[in-house]
Amino acid sequence: MPRVRSFEIPTVMKHGLGAVETLADEARALGMTRPMLVTDGGIVKAGLLERVTRPLKAANLDFVVFDEVVPNPPIAVVDQGGALYRQEKCDGVIGFGGGSSMDTAKSIGVVAVNGGSIRSYEWADPQPIKQRIPPTICVPTTAGTGSEVTLWAVITDHQRHIKFNVGGTGLIGAWLALIDPELTLDLPPAVTAGTGMDALAHAVECYTCAYAQPLPDSVALNAMEYVSQYLRVAFAQGHNVEARYKMSMAAMLGALAYGTESAGAAHAMSQSAGGVHDVPHGALTARLLGPVMEYNFKGEPQKFARIAQALGEDVGGLTVWQAAEKAVEAVMKLTEDVEIPTLQELGFKEEEIPMLADIAFKDPQTVGNPRDLSLQSYVKMYHRTFDLGKR
Ligand SMILES: [Fe+2]
Repeated sequence: MPRVRSFEIPTVMKHGLGAVETLADEARALGMTRPMLVTDGGIVKAGLLERVTRPLKAANLDFVVFDEVVPNPPIAVVDQGGALYRQEKCDGVIGFGGGSSMDTAKSIGVVAVNGGSIRSYEWADPQPIKQRIPPTICVPTTAGTGSEVTLWAVITDHQRHIKFNVGGTGLIGAWLALIDPELTLDLPPAVTAGTGMDALAHAVECYTCAYAQPLPDSVALNAMEYVSQYLRVAFAQGHNVEARYKMSMAAMLGALAYGTESAGAAHAMSQSAGGVHDVPHGALTARLLGPVMEYNFKGEPQKFARIAQALGEDVGGLTVWQAAEKAVEAVMKLTEDVEIPTLQELGFKEEEIPMLADIAFKDPQTVGNPRDLSLQSYVKMYHRTFDLGKR
């Protein structure tokens, strides 16, 4: 019988068209009078910041803007934000943007109340985070990372050339996730594709991981259904409100499963490789997901057969094994349909495979993978991914 498991989520979730209009009321309800608004320069340039500053100004909330977030946020940016938080005597955090902004916001909260550098809070046993982050609202502008509901943040350590995880505890979970699909209407197709596939990867990897349990499993299956039905539509028609609505829901559901469990080889590979080359996490994970599933389905064919059904595949008359193979094919086809760049196009070189395999093998998410992994398994999966990219 499985060991005792728990499912913890400290985050209140509010999802729907126009949800962002309630930001000021929600901030006040959490006791904020001087929130720090954490975002990135791209959001400011795109004119999107006004969607949150307008309601905050209207409610006379005396906010501070920290717009230094960069993709794959490094230690220095988090520490800089933490120092500003204390200097400005802020009393809450609002993370506005994609995964990088929300991960930075939650991490700023960690150092703001626990002190020191975010480097000291890399996940470990015993858990280094002792105090819950201050009142924090996450408002995503993409649909994929799901950081608004996860118990994790991923930080890049440029000295060690790795990404490390902070969290694994409710102490880092946002107090409120304010998810407004309207904010994603103008996302470029490439971002829609990469982030949407990341949502799918969260769902697939958690559904099949060694720690899987019924509650997140059912949530993950729903996320897979939404991605298979709506990602192509959102990619091709950015302003299709129904597709954007369902994709933002898929991101939340996928991350609910992911944020309380572990992932597997695709995230072990993408997170470690993402510390080597500064590339979008979603696109990199998406490119690896198909080959990882191709390796993994042999370890748990029943679950992969169920994934095929969730992805809308007709599995009538097929054996479990054949149905499981359909899941792999469906993900590989979706990857191509939404034009995910190849590893080569992302700037990786085949000569790097031994090094990439080595760091993936050392990643803690290797442990959660549904099929046993050796260093050689990673080498093979990387070769397969490069081969698929030769077209
Ligand atoms: Fe991810």
